[in-house]
Amino acid sequence: MAETHRIEVTVNGLPRMLEVPPHHTLLDVLRDDLRLTGAKECCLVGECGACTVIVDGRTVDSCLVLAVEADGCEITTVEGLAQDGSLDPLQRAFLDEGAAQCGFCIPGQLMAAHALLAGNPHPTVAEIQEGLAGNLCRCGSYLQITDAVLATAAEGTRR
Ligand code: FES
Ligand code: FES
Repeated sequence: MAETHRIEVTVNGLPRMLEVPPHHTLLDVLRDDLRLTGAKECCLVGECGACTVIVDGRTVDSCLVLAVEADGCEITTVEGLAQDGSLDPLQRAFLDEGAAQCGFCIPGQLMAAHALLAGNPHPTVAEIQEGLAGNLCRCGSYLQITDAVLATAAEGTRR
């Protein structure tokens, strides 16, 4: 039988215990073991950001992280953004701004934007562009994505 390691992680607030082969990535485990398919499998070499999730408050390309490295960590995926059936303000703003075209990059964009706003609730356009620089959008929705992040920041100010 192939060697596995036991890891304990918290995913979207739920504790999970998993047996994982040493070569499986965090992306493999999220998508294949936990059926959380929001993080997308694309370049697998850390170039596109489609697999972005938040680990202990920081964005990571989950295709570059071994699952065993995530042992003990708190992980948030795009599935963890909506609460009680209501979209997160950032998700709502992406919809309102028409940021999602094919939608493939959007989970990664959302997670990068979420982490950006958590650390900097009022980013400038340049800071948004820098914060999301690792997330490519083949549909070219960059303007709408930036507008959605700005709108979410402005909305946060009003609340
Ligand atoms: S699939 Fe991970 S960065 Fe592209
Ligand atoms: S919306 Fe299609 S890749 Fe970004």
